[in-house]
Amino acid sequence: MSAAAPIVVRPERSGDEMDVRRVLDAAFAGPEEGELVERLRVHGDLVLSLVALDGEKVAGYVAWPRLWIETPRDEYKAVALAPLAVAPSRQRDGIGSALVREGLAQLRAFGESIVFVLGDPAYYRRFGFSAEAASGYGSTYSGAHFMALTLNASPPPHGRVRYPAAFDAG
Ligand SMILES: CC(C)(COP(=O)(O)OP(=O)(O)OC[C@H]1O[C@@H](n2cnc3c(N)ncnc32)[C@H](O)[C@@H]1OP(=O)(O)O)[C@@H](O)C(=O)NCCC(=O)NCCS
Repeated sequence: MSAAAPIVVRPERSGDEMDVRRVLDAAFAGPEEGELVERLRVHGDLVLSLVALDGEKVAGYVAWPRLWIETPRDEYKAVALAPLAVAPSRQRDGIGSALVREGLAQLRAFGESIVFVLGDPAYYRRFGFSAEAASGYGSTYSGAHFMALTLNASPPPHGRVRYPAAFDAG
């Protein structure tokens, strides 16, 4: 983390949308993730979204959409971590980690029990995510890059992970 510019993480607010979109488009070199976030906002599918500030400037963003675990008898709440993005000029300075750690702390405080992520295990394992924790949950994303982290002692029973429709519409 840079000593010169302490990283402040706060909830996304109305008015942040264009700055968030700029970070997403730059980090992913295209519009798909920014469009996904706009659909998630419109559909009300975000449990939490955080921005990281470098001074007044938005330098990072993470969204935590609602997921559902479907079993034959019921469905249970879960959360996704997606997307996570840091402005290219500010990557590898701890901003992504600060966003993930703050989001996980807030979700734990909300009483959420499990978070799923599709990403590079080399990055996400530092926060405790593992493919083993996700392995009992069915998903079209299943595999080494599909990971989960339980936040309390009562994760949902195994079942199928349902993503919001916003993920299909890209
Ligand atoms: C991935 C991303 C969010 C990481 O944020 P960041 O602020 O650069 O990362 P941090 O500074 O918190 O962490 C840096 C560490 O992560 C590692 N790292 C960064 N990006 C990585 C990646 N894509 N895969 C694996 N490791 C990665 C660095 O090597 C560094 O490791 P070290 O701590 O062992 O030195 C950022 O690089 C980014 O926006 N990338 C483009 C968009 C993207 O790929 N998002 C993730 C989608 S799953």
